[in-house]
Amino acid sequence: MSTIPVSDVDLYTEQARTDPYPIYAELRALGPVVHLSRYDLYALPRYDEVHAALMDWQTFSSARGVFVDPVMNAQLEGITLCSDPPEHTAMRSVLGRPLRQDRMREVRPKIESEAQRVVAELVARGRFEVVTELAEHLPMTVVSELVGLPDHARAKMLDWAEAIWDTQGPADERAAAARPAVEEFLAFAANDAVPGKIDPDGWAAHLYQAADRGEIPPEKCPMMMLDYVTPSLDTTILAIANTIALFAEHPDQWDLLRENRSLISHAINESLRLESPVPQFSRVLTEDHEIGGVTLTAGSRVALLYGSANRDERHYPDPTRFDITRHSADHLAFGRGEHMCVGLHLARLEMSTLLEQLADRVGGFEIRERRPLINNGLRGLEYLEVVTRAIG
Ligand code: HEM
Repeated sequence: MSTIPVSDVDLYTEQARTDPYPIYAELRALGPVVHLSRYDLYALPRYDEVHAALMDWQTFSSARGVFVDPVMNAQLEGITLCSDPPEHTAMRSVLGRPLRQDRMREVRPKIESEAQRVVAELVARGRFEVVTELAEHLPMTVVSELVGLPDHARAKMLDWAEAIWDTQGPADERAAAARPAVEEFLAFAANDAVPGKIDPDGWAAHLYQAADRGEIPPEKCPMMMLDYVTPSLDTTILAIANTIALFAEHPDQWDLLRENRSLISHAINESLRLESPVPQFSRVLTEDHEIGGVTLTAGSRVALLYGSANRDERHYPDPTRFDITRHSADHLAFGRGEHMCVGLHLARLEMSTLLEQLADRVGGFEIRERRPLINNGLRGLEYLEVVTRAIG
C-alpha cells in the first residue's frame, strides 16, 4: 500500500485565491489524493477521482457539511446542499421545482427583454464595467425578484451571499470579517423571510407552501432560504464576467462564436471548465475508502477540487487552451450526481441570452482594467472594464 502525499500549500492566500492554478497543477502531479496538512483535508485534484466521488454519495456524504471550517459545517448541516438522500431528495425536489428546464420558458421572455435592453445600452456607450453593469443585471433584476424577498432584503442579497461564500473556507480573517453579515442573513431568514412578509408567488414562499402540504418539514424553510440566496447570484455573475474576459483574450474564439451561434452552449461549458466560479466543495467519508492505492479512513474530510479537475491534463488535452469547439460538457463546474447544480438551466439561460445579444452587436472586446475577487468560496473577477468594438 503506498503512502499519501502530503502538502502544506495554503489555498487561501490572496495569491492562491487569485490564481490557484499553479497549486492545482502541483497537487495533480503529487497524486490522485493529497493530504493538505494545514486543514487536515484530503484533496482530490484530478478529474476521475472527483467525478467518482460525486457519483457515490453513500461513501462521500454531504450531510456533515461541504465546506472547510468545522463550525460552519456544523451550523449549515441539513440545508439542501449539506444533506444526503432521502432527506436531500425531498428538499431538492421542492427547491428545484421553479428551476426545472421546462419552467425556463416562463422566465425566458423577461430574461430576453432585460438582456436586450442592457446590452444595447452598454454597447452604445462602448465602454463599461462588466461585473456591475452587465453581469449583475439579470441576477439582480430577474433572479432576485423570482426569489421574492422584500425590497430591502433584495438589495442586500449580494452582500449576504458574498459573506456566506467567504465563510466556506477555513476560519481565517476573511471568514471573521464576513461573520456579521452572515449573522444578519440568518436572523433575516428566521424572522423576516416568512409568509406575510415575502412575495406569495416567489420561490421563497413556495418553500413554505410545500411545507404546508407536508412535502418538507416546516422547520427546514428558513435555512433553505440559504440554498436560494447563496448560489443564485454571484456564481452566475462571475461566470458571465469570466466569459467576457476569455473572449477579450481570445478574439478568434469570439469571431467563431459570432459566425456560428450553435457554439454558444459549448462556449459556456468551456468558460465554466476553464474558470470555474465554485472551485471546491468537500465531503466526509462514511466508511474506509481506497483511492489510487491508498486507504482513507471513515470520517476523513475530502476536498473535491472542481477547479483543478476541470484542468486535468489526463482528461482534457491542452487544458489551459480556451477552445469553444471543444466538447467540455462533462466539466465539473456544476458538480455532478445527487447535488449537481439545481440552478444550471437558469444560469445557462442567463449566459446564453447575454451572449446572443452581444454577438449581434459587438465585434470584439478589449480589457482596460481588471481586478480579481478575493473570496474564500468563489473565484473570478470583482472588476472588469472593457471597451467594445462595434460590428464594422
Ligand atoms: C454558473 C453558475 C453556477 C455555478 C458555477 C454553480 C455551481 C454549483 C455547484 C458546483 C454545485 C454542486 C454542489 C456540490 O457539489 O455539493 C451547485 C449546487 C447548487 N446550485 Fe449552483 N451554480 C450556479 C448557478 C446556480 C443558480 C443560478 C442557482 C439558483 C437559482 C443555483 C442553485 C444551486 C443549489 C440550490 C445547489 C444545491 C443542489 C443540491 O445540493 O442538490 N446555482 N451549484
